Amino acid sequence: MVSWLDIRNALLNGKPVLIFDSIEREAETDMVFYAGIIDYKKIAYLRKYAGGQICFVSGGLFREALDLPFLQDLIIKYPSIRVLATRKPRYGDPPAFNIWLNHIATKTGISDYDKALTIKTLSEIASLIYKGYMEEARDRFLKEFYAPGHVPVLTSRGLANRRGHTELSVALSLITGLTPSMVIAEMLDEGQSLSYEDAKRFATRNGLFFIDGVDIVAEAEKRGFLN
Ligand code: 5RP
Ligand code: ZN
Ligand code: CA
Repeated sequence: MVSWLDIRNALLNGKPVLIFDSIEREAETDMVFYAGIIDYKKIAYLRKYAGGQICFVSGGLFREALDLPFLQDLIIKYPSIRVLATRKPRYGDPPAFNIWLNHIATKTGISDYDKALTIKTLSEIASLIYKGYMEEARDRFLKEFYAPGHVPVLTSRGLANRRGHTELSVALSLITGLTPSMVIAEMLDEGQSLSYEDAKRFATRNGLFFIDGVDIVAEAEKRGFLN
């Protein structure tokens, strides 16, 4: 039995949770922090103990408020390379990538400190958007970042359309009453993704919640958060 309240408290207290998508998809586990509490130590933790690409994730409202395209839709506009965007990963999903950003005050954008600054500022913008301050959010967004940078921004297409870590982590934020504003990184092993069993063991050893994607989908369905 999953305690969503305990998961909310863990996220607010700066602990990551681990989310397994599903055996039919990537069959991978991502480490997920709430972006509202991110700092450079948590980025370092993601880098050392997850190891995959560190991404900022938000919902469809974030994408719409900032008028962000999906990268795939941009690539398709260039006839010389459009074929690249007509192919899909093995599990068939359209990608969740929108844009790669750095905060203007970063040095290279790559250090833990720089990524934390970029992501923390994105989380402030997500907060403004989800509170309804669209103009202020857009103003800050256009003033405080440059692109391309080193933090990929991914946005949810809704669990009814896609069941990736992007949609699962956004659904988790809605279920736990947090702003859709998460940081995710895939958990890696030597040469490959970390297995389901090893990801579960990591969670147990470190006192972290391990959440199966199917439990998030079931709860989101109950609460009407599929879109
Ligand atoms: C982050 C990842 C993510 O799993 C992936 O890049 C995007 O998420 P998804 O396609 O599952 O929504 O590897 O490091
Ligand atoms: Zn994923
Ligand atoms: Ca992945």
